Amino acid sequence: MAFQIGEMSTEQLLDAQAHVWNHLFSFINSMSLKCAIELGIPDIIHNHAKPMSLSQLVDALPIPKVKSHFVYRLMRLLIHSEFFVKVDVSDEEEKEHYWLTPASLLLLRNAPLTVVPLVPLILDPIFTTPFDYVSKWLASEHHYSSPFEMRHGRKVFEHAGHELGVNKLLNEAMSSDARLLTHVLVRDHKQVLEGIKLLVDVGGGTGATAKAILDAFPDMKCIVLDLPHVVGGLEGTDNLSYAAGNMFETIPSADAVFLKWILHDWNDEDCVKILKKCKEAITGKDMGDTKVMIIDMVLDIYGRDDKAVETHLFFDIAMMSYINGKERTEKEWAKLFFDSGFTSYKITNAFGLRSLIEVYP
Ligand SMILES: C[S@@+](CC[C@H](N)C(=O)[O-])C[C@H]1O[C@@H](n2cnc3c(N)ncnc32)[C@H](O)[C@@H]1O
Repeated sequence: MAFQIGEMSTEQLLDAQAHVWNHLFSFINSMSLKCAIELGIPDIIHNHAKPMSLSQLVDALPIPKVKSHFVYRLMRLLIHSEFFVKVDVSDEEEKEHYWLTPASLLLLRNAPLTVVPLVPLILDPIFTTPFDYVSKWLASEHHYSSPFEMRHGRKVFEHAGHELGVNKLLNEAMSSDARLLTHVLVRDHKQVLEGIKLLVDVGGGTGATAKAILDAFPDMKCIVLDLPHVVGGLEGTDNLSYAAGNMFETIPSADAVFLKWILHDWNDEDCVKILKKCKEAITGKDMGDTKVMIIDMVLDIYGRDDKAVETHLFFDIAMMSYINGKERTEKEWAKLFFDSGFTSYKITNAFGLRSLIEVYP
């Protein structure tokens, strides 16, 4: 392998340059996606109910017609990144038409399993500017727990407690993810919830996960524990109640605890504290089989493809930058469970990039 530029072949030199360029401009993928959603392109094509030509799309967009060619260029990139496909329609003057892909179906604003609310969260400058601070944060001797805290002066959940807009962004994004995930959970893995009479969803946000689980298990009862600024003022139902509190202090007793996208927000020491509280919550009384159910990523298992590995690593750096959290390998997860006094666990690779981990006392 060449260690000096002069030792590189022309091909190596130019490949290296292309590699750097590709990475420097990777943010354009995210930003073009954001632009398409802001303009409502997936919804416009979906409402048209059949493939749409460039002129039909431009006519439907809230933009001047002279911008048509720019839309063509935006769509060209989004086709390359598999958010749309080009369909040939031979009997029309404009032969090239745009149509949707499975990914753009998730980008419809009012679709039941829409992921649109994640877009303004991930790509809002509140959450992107901390990445400008990563090197400063690494170099700093200061006690900031994360680049987010260094940028905004507060930790994420504290910031959400002060800024209504951030609280709303977070809760809506989490609810949309909860709806998609719970859809898969109750459709394909219902058995893992069978027999549970009382479930506590720790850090359960505004209750989207709990509501979807209760729709599938109407005899179950569910408590959603979250911070006061998240659940304060929310009305429960006969079988759903909200508890405003702090999971580091008390978790209501239940026969199962659900932790979705919680532990990746915390460092190992805090995770052990949370897991010990979960263990206390499922211990005692005359509960039958009890368990903690975790939905999070497990790195390095099941021989993931390159894109999945990259997304896992993106999430890991995102958790580091937002909140000093981390994504974990199976070995790291196991250590947390045994350090918290649990005796066994089972991982099911059930949710694409995430897994279900059932942990037993
Ligand atoms: C990443 S969100 C996950 C929300 C939800 N579980 C989901 O996946 O849709 C983390 C949640 O943990 C809550 N949270 C943070 N600190 C908490 C604490 N000390 N006690 C209870 N909930 C907390 C946040 O308010 C937020 O709703």
